[in-house]
Amino acid sequence: MSDWNAQDYEQHSSAQLKWAQELIAKLNLKGHEKILDLGCGDGKVTAELARQVPSGSVIGVDRSEAMIDLAQSRYPQAQVVNLQFRQMDARQLSFRNQFDVVFSNATLHWVDDHDAVLKGLEAGLSAQGRILLQMGGQGNAAKIIEAVNAVIQSAQWHAYFEDFTFPYCFCSPAEYQHWLPKVGLIPRRVELIPKDMTHKGAEGLMGWIRTTWFPYLQAVPEQMRDELVTAIVHRYLQEHPIGEDGMTHVDMMRLEVEAEKP
Ligand SMILES: C[S@@+](CC[C@H](N)C(=O)[O-])C[C@H]1O[C@@H](n2cnc3c(N)ncnc32)[C@H](O)[C@@H]1O
Repeated sequence: MSDWNAQDYEQHSSAQLKWAQELIAKLNLKGHEKILDLGCGDGKVTAELARQVPSGSVIGVDRSEAMIDLAQSRYPQAQVVNLQFRQMDARQLSFRNQFDVVFSNATLHWVDDHDAVLKGLEAGLSAQGRILLQMGGQGNAAKIIEAVNAVIQSAQWHAYFEDFTFPYCFCSPAEYQHWLPKVGLIPRRVELIPKDMTHKGAEGLMGWIRTTWFPYLQAVPEQMRDELVTAIVHRYLQEHPIGEDGMTHVDMMRLEVEAEKP
């Protein structure tokens, strides 16, 4: 899979930012914690975490070189002394007993091997450290997926998708309830939370499809990608029209996971 378009993500991720801010509030930070932000993306959420722990520190890691480059250029360590970014895969974390908190927003549905992620998280936590993760969960974006499937199965597009495999892992609470104790973490709360994702009109929805549904776009030649985005958005809006407030609405289902290291 190619890399993310970090600038485009930065411009079209207001929904992820809003949810990240709600998630950060649930951490009840005291201001001295050492935090890992797993899948930090363009770094704006990581920078918010750093603002909330003036006597602590934050490390943001992400697999994408483009995201880490952008994050480092926006928040250089010379200016934000308690914040660092590192390119690292969530399945190959190399930290040991150093974090009070591991936080992750809108990332882990991109990862196939959650067992490897959780082993790495557990090893990176200090004793009594805690994790708070939110990701796309079972049933997430079902209506968008319906629209996407209708388009990619149509005569115009189906040839490009013959070998395509669904790129996301939308896990269930039962899977996490099973995985957490296996790596030595105590589950505190594992639940699916329905959320309404809003975007400004068709343009906003297109921006989100272009930036976070890019595995589908990469299956077609570059010069056809805008046309595919338009077709998906057109199809979705036929059944889920823009509201009177000018916003598009997408039913999302987030899996939220809280757990602790003994
Ligand atoms: C939707 S963005 C979320 C970014 C940020 N957490 C936010 O809330 O805006 C998903 C991020 O997950 C990262 N990601 C995907 N797979 C990953 C992996 N295996 N390891 C680390 N990061 C990964 C992507 O590079 C991308 O930056």
